[in-house]
Amino acid sequence: MAHIIITSGPTRQYLDPVRYLTNSSSGRMGSCLAQSALDLGHKVTVVSGPVQIDYPRDATVIDVITTQQMLSATQELFASADGLIGAAAPCDYMPMQIAEHKLAKTGNGLQLSLVETPDIVATLGSLKRLNQWIVGFALETEDIRFRAIVKMTRKCCDMIVSNSAEAMNAESNSVEIILRGGTTIEQVEGPKKVVADAILKQIQAHLIEKYS
Ligand code: C5P
Repeated sequence: MAHIIITSGPTRQYLDPVRYLTNSSSGRMGSCLAQSALDLGHKVTVVSGPVQIDYPRDATVIDVITTQQMLSATQELFASADGLIGAAAPCDYMPMQIAEHKLAKTGNGLQLSLVETPDIVATLGSLKRLNQWIVGFALETEDIRFRAIVKMTRKCCDMIVSNSAEAMNAESNSVEIILRGGTTIEQVEGPKKVVADAILKQIQAHLIEKYS
């Protein structure tokens, strides 16, 4: 049995106490991956941003809001885990400052200054031990396979799942599963649970069995 950490859902980056940046990630792919990992007998901890969906009852769920919170919770858990699946869509940018009070309208518009948030998968990729593995996701609209492979290398992932832009907030997904080295090992399309089962089957064969 492996202990698998799954990041899931969007994050939020606040501009002021009531307004925030986010995206439309639903957490459905993360939830299906959690169920598929549980079905194979693994221990699962999900680190999730704010979502409307439910996670499997047998998974431990840690709720976070921001990308920085998702990073610190995931980093702490990953220290004693076997692998990480980065299925979240964390906000890549955050406002340079968070206003203490609600920003009032002035009639002059508002210019936001944004800075990049930390990359969770890349940070943990640079810290992972020899027997730990990381699976990233890539959502590209052009040069899909090439960009996914570049991303896998840059973030030190052992496997990357390249999925279509239509997957966001949808019931189904169409993915290509690529191993470190660049070999596509499976292409699968269908409901997210079917896709999640295929991803976990490949993780089991190529990562869990290899490292255990
Ligand atoms: O660079 P991009 O956002 O396309 O990479 C996608 C992969 O990186 C996903 O696995 C996603 O969960 C992860 N990611 C992350 N932290 C971020 C941005 C993306 O872990 N701040």
